Amino acid sequence: MNSWNLTEKRALITGSSKGIGFAAAREMGLLGAEVCLIARNEPGLQAAIDELEPLGIPAWGTPADVSHPRDQQRVLEQVLNRWDRLDILVNNTGMNIRKSYADYEESEYRRVFETNLFSAMAMTQLFFPLLKASGNASVVNVASVAGLVDVRSGAPYGMTKAGLIQMTRHLAVEWAPLGIRVNAVSPWYTRTPLAEPVLQQPDRLALILNNTPLGRIAEAEEVAAAIAFLCMDKASYITGQNLVVDGGMTAQGM
Ligand SMILES: NC(=O)c1ccc[n+]([C@@H]2O[C@H](COP(=O)([O-])OP(=O)(O)OC[C@H]3O[C@@H](n4cnc5c(N)ncnc54)[C@H](OP(=O)(O)O)[C@@H]3O)[C@@H](O)[C@H]2O)c1
Repeated sequence: MNSWNLTEKRALITGSSKGIGFAAAREMGLLGAEVCLIARNEPGLQAAIDELEPLGIPAWGTPADVSHPRDQQRVLEQVLNRWDRLDILVNNTGMNIRKSYADYEESEYRRVFETNLFSAMAMTQLFFPLLKASGNASVVNVASVAGLVDVRSGAPYGMTKAGLIQMTRHLAVEWAPLGIRVNAVSPWYTRTPLAEPVLQQPDRLALILNNTPLGRIAEAEEVAAAIAFLCMDKASYITGQNLVVDGGMTAQGM
């Protein structure tokens, strides 16, 4: 219970072939965890696993769309084939459709909710018995500052992230007696394939940088460090929190 590492932890990270999820898998693997990666695209997933193996990280994975119940179930079966407990679950999968509120089709806002919020609800429920079996487990939900304040990134996206933050608080309380800590990490703009289309717009980039006291865009590794910390036994008294990784953005008033 006293080390800054994740030795012997078994970690499942959703949405982990790229961006923040991949950086989290890498960081946790370097800290000693065995990592299971999930993404839809099989070659992309395999390439990510192949990148981790030379680093000495025990990594495996299975292609799945975590917004689909059949795939969620299949991930559980694959994990049960290898592991009898789960120490770390990172619900990281997320996507966005950016529009004015009145312009969303029902299918579009449902897709944002299914990918960002309902998948996390379902995966956390499905893996509950394995998390309980750990006796010392940590769930991290990757939310966003868009769940705290409006950042003009589309209402459904922000609503799903606010939902994840509240799910975090609720589960932290309900599962504390079972030895399961539940926290959220809320990034601001981070250099990943998801954010790239926004960061390539000069006006938008200038606005983001003007509103970021640290004056730069986060790297995925900087968000991954927060995720990994919350999963360590060093964070053993931290539960129900939302760790905001935003370069000071939400601290700035004027
Ligand atoms: N980047 C930012 O600026 C930022 C800011 C705040 C919050 N966040 C949040 O951080 C999380 C990670 O974002 P990111 O920027 O790293 O995203 P990203 O670069 O788009 O990477 C997303 C990862 O998730 C996988 N994925 C997407 N949909 C999936 C699905 N339905 N089932 C399984 N895997 C899926 C992708 O692989 P496949 O396409 O092969 O499935 C990929 O590996 C998200 O929850 C996002 O909302 C990001």
